Amino acid sequence: MRWFLLWCAQNKWLSAHVPTWGFAKRAVRRFLPGEDFDSALREAVEFKKQGVGALFTRLGENLTALDEAGAVVQHYEEVLAASAEVGAEISVKPTQLGLDIDPAAALANLARLARAAAAANSFLWIDMEGSAYTDATIQLYTRLRADHPNTGICLQAYLHRTAADILKLLPRRPAIRLVKGAYAESAEIAYQAKRDVDANYLALCVLMLAEVKHKSLRLVLGTHDVELIGRVWRFGQALGLERSQIEVNMLYGIRTDEQLKLSKEGYVVRDLIAYGDAWYAWYLRRLAERPANVLFVARQLIG
Ligand code: FDA
Repeated sequence: MRWFLLWCAQNKWLSAHVPTWGFAKRAVRRFLPGEDFDSALREAVEFKKQGVGALFTRLGENLTALDEAGAVVQHYEEVLAASAEVGAEISVKPTQLGLDIDPAAALANLARLARAAAAANSFLWIDMEGSAYTDATIQLYTRLRADHPNTGICLQAYLHRTAADILKLLPRRPAIRLVKGAYAESAEIAYQAKRDVDANYLALCVLMLAEVKHKSLRLVLGTHDVELIGRVWRFGQALGLERSQIEVNMLYGIRTDEQLKLSKEGYVVRDLIAYGDAWYAWYLRRLAERPANVLFVARQLIG
């Protein structure tokens, strides 16, 4: 089921048609407060009242024209200016900023966003896409981080290479959001079994926690796996870390009760709120993460 849903995520015919179907629009609302930024901002205001921060992302990927990427940058500049009061951060996909067309232009776009984020006292995160982009994305981040300390990168625990990538990045005092990984990757390069991905996730965190203690790394756990977060915390505790030094990010609409609970326990928690009309591939990846979500879609079809 997971592979089938991830195949659907890449299918051009489906991506052109599914977003026009009413039941699909209703189903996606579970993970998306709305297609416009104002809906996302309203949710961020509500989360802030409960001690949970926000991370905004406008959906879209694999843009084919640089002027579209320029419009994305302009949009995020407006978002950063408008969301200073909620202390939100932003997270962007390199292919939404032109990586497929011109890596130098994508870097220039990232630098422009990093400057806008700094002016708004905010932070710019770079999402990690499929493995075809891992090298290019790490290169972009390495060059960006040299001039912009308020930037971070997402790395994926399912890839065999990630420990080596972390070791290369650590001397640069990076910010790393560690996720399990959402794309279909082969067994040659990625762990396939959930227990192996989870074990690697924990091992990578253990590798990084000492750097968190020395304040040379900002580590964010991008996962809804609260049991795993608990295991990471026990290692952090043994090193003498405070809960407030462990950051957790989860997606809007998933385990909201746990987000509030973790925040009350003292973790720094942010809710990643996505918005925009280009939700098809992103939504299919959410279904693939938990195929039981497909039943929810089926209910929208009937109801
Ligand atoms: P796991 O899949 O083990 O889920 C743990 C529990 O969480 C499940 O038992 C279920 O209860 C709940 N859950 C998880 N996913 C759910 C869903 N879709 N619907 C309902 N419940 C669900 N990936 C990537 O490749 N590049 C990226 O840049 C990012 N960025 C990113 C940012 C943030 C803040 C998060 C939380 C995640 C990402 N991801 C990502 C996605 C990530 O790689 C992964 O696919 C999902 O987080 C699902 O894995 P979990 O870590 O939640 O664990």
